[in-house]
Amino acid sequence: MSEEQQLQVNGSARSVSGCPGRSLLGVLRDELNLTGAKYGCGEAQCGACVVLLDGRPVPSCITSVGSVGAAAVLTIEGLERDGTLRPVQEAFLEADALQCGYCTPGMILAVVALLEQNADPSEGEVIQALQKHVCRCGVYRRILKAVRLAAAKQAGAPEAIRARTAGDDR
Ligand code: FES
Ligand code: FES
Repeated sequence: MSEEQQLQVNGSARSVSGCPGRSLLGVLRDELNLTGAKYGCGEAQCGACVVLLDGRPVPSCITSVGSVGAAAVLTIEGLERDGTLRPVQEAFLEADALQCGYCTPGMILAVVALLEQNADPSEGEVIQALQKHVCRCGVYRRILKAVRLAAAKQAGAPEAIRARTAGDDR
């Protein structure tokens, strides 16, 4: 059954048509050309496909487009504002917290959501929030450093954190 559906994606209304049971990930990538979210496991176990729905991280590989309703979808493409990266994006670049980058969009969106809920998470809380995000390149220490740096940037104290975490990237 094919249906016309309105989605709110990255602040814009987008019209899609097709079966409401197909995955949000497929619609984003194949119909809306938003290819930041990646296909990894297809089973909600790797985090590569994570997007935010009303600010909540969800695995778009197992989310049917028909279940999205009026929720605001945010993908990595919608994170920058007027050409300016968000602090979490800047922190990932500054901490060199990526290698191939396949996991990075999902990681960044999960961190954005975490810092909205908890501006100063402990390392344990960060690990808990990212437990279903797999980085096959293994740059986990640098990702943790990026989260600390992002939290400091959002609190307005990046220099202090940079000094504290200098050399702590393995
Ligand atoms: S592709 Fe969706 S969690 Fe792995
Ligand atoms: S940077 Fe390659 S999978 Fe994480």
